Amino acid sequence: MERKNLTLGVFGFGCVGQGLYEVLSRTQGLKANIKKICIKEPEKARSQPPTLFTSNRDEILNDPEIDVVVELINDDVAAFEIVSTAMKNGKAVVSASKKMIATHLNELYDLQQLYHVPFLYEGACCASIPIIRNLEEYYDNDLLHSIEGIFNGSTNYILTKIFDDAISFDLALQEAQEKGFAETDPRMDIEGHDPKFKLCILLLHAFGIFVKPEHIFNFGIDRLNDFDINYAREKHCRIKLIAKCRKVGNEIYAYVFPHFVNGNSQLTNIHNEYNGVLVESAFSDRQFFTGKGAGSTPTGSAVLSDISALSYNYRYEYRKISQQLAAQKALDLKVEDTLLLNNNIELKIFVRYSDVQDVPIEAFNDIIEKYESAGFKYIIGTIQLEKIIDADWVKNRAINLIAL
Ligand SMILES: NC(=O)c1ccc[n+]([C@@H]2O[C@H](COP(=O)([O-])OP(=O)(O)OC[C@H]3O[C@@H](n4cnc5c(N)ncnc54)[C@H](OP(=O)(O)O)[C@@H]3O)[C@@H](O)[C@H]2O)c1
Repeated sequence: MERKNLTLGVFGFGCVGQGLYEVLSRTQGLKANIKKICIKEPEKARSQPPTLFTSNRDEILNDPEIDVVVELINDDVAAFEIVSTAMKNGKAVVSASKKMIATHLNELYDLQQLYHVPFLYEGACCASIPIIRNLEEYYDNDLLHSIEGIFNGSTNYILTKIFDDAISFDLALQEAQEKGFAETDPRMDIEGHDPKFKLCILLLHAFGIFVKPEHIFNFGIDRLNDFDINYAREKHCRIKLIAKCRKVGNEIYAYVFPHFVNGNSQLTNIHNEYNGVLVESAFSDRQFFTGKGAGSTPTGSAVLSDISALSYNYRYEYRKISQQLAAQKALDLKVEDTLLLNNNIELKIFVRYSDVQDVPIEAFNDIIEKYESAGFKYIIGTIQLEKIIDADWVKNRAINLIAL
């Protein structure tokens, strides 16, 4: 197949933008030339000639020579404006902005169909791990049971440093920021929003369903204290921030929670900024993908892979959506009978607290273990996820929850 020459207009020259520039300049074979890079602050010193840069987005969006817009900025509102305008102007688009993509999945899907332009975003999910392309090309919806994993490099780096080097949470976060692993607003990482955005994107490519981020529960690692860490160590466990989704019949369960993991889980040995994705399907059983989930060149390489795919006219076919629609039509299913997100799933959780009145024991199906000391107390019990979502006691920052 003949390969197209591409002229690129890039938005953003931060951690990922510079990573892309580096990997592109060291890659042979791909004929893709960056014509212009749009940045926010024109006064900032740059490592490349000033003529390459502009702060006027129209210089890229309205340039007929530019056939691919690569969006790598840290402002999700501006990112959506840029990406949607580029598509309306008939340009192919590559993006790594997970928050923007997860928030606008429906509109972005429609824009692709309406303007017949490809939109690729492998770098938005677990950076260097080619999970979207695998879900698109390899797995069949009916055979896919579940996806779970460590989807956030920054929090995995923090947790690794806490457990291996015994450094404080704040220092580990600062290191993650210095290394370019953290989001501009680190609450996106530590509160578990970022892995949830990736889960929304993967749910579309795995099962063909559009789920809004606000409909998926996320709990982060921002309340972790020494008691929780010592508890994990005593039990020969680590704590990992894990995103999960599972298809059971017509229902999909999806959530993000910190988990205690031990040697039985492949995720236990995923350290630093690495991510790990476990896919479970009917016949191949369990498959495991791992790779760097954050950072300049690992993310840049995923973006480069998308640009390379565009040079072969690749686009996502969203086959799982078509499969869903076909099944619906063939069986004359009602909307409520098709795949739907459901939060009525039982979780086993550890709850650490200091005041007994703060935790409604009656909300639990079962209490398996209880511990009380002068300082901290904990229970381990089973509870329905829907009883955690929006519960006032869960909003109390003196309480921490970790799944088992
Ligand atoms: N860092 C990672 O490991 C990683 C991994 C996967 C995905 N991502 C995603 O990739 C995107 C970029 O992340 P990053 O870490 O590279 O961010 P970053 O280092 O903070 O860089 C952001 C860049 O965006 C530019 N920018 C911001 N608003 C702009 C606007 N309105 N128009 C044009 N340029 C604008 C900034 O310009 P100035 O240089 O003038 O400030 C800067 O060059 C984010 O969506 C992030 O979630 C990051």
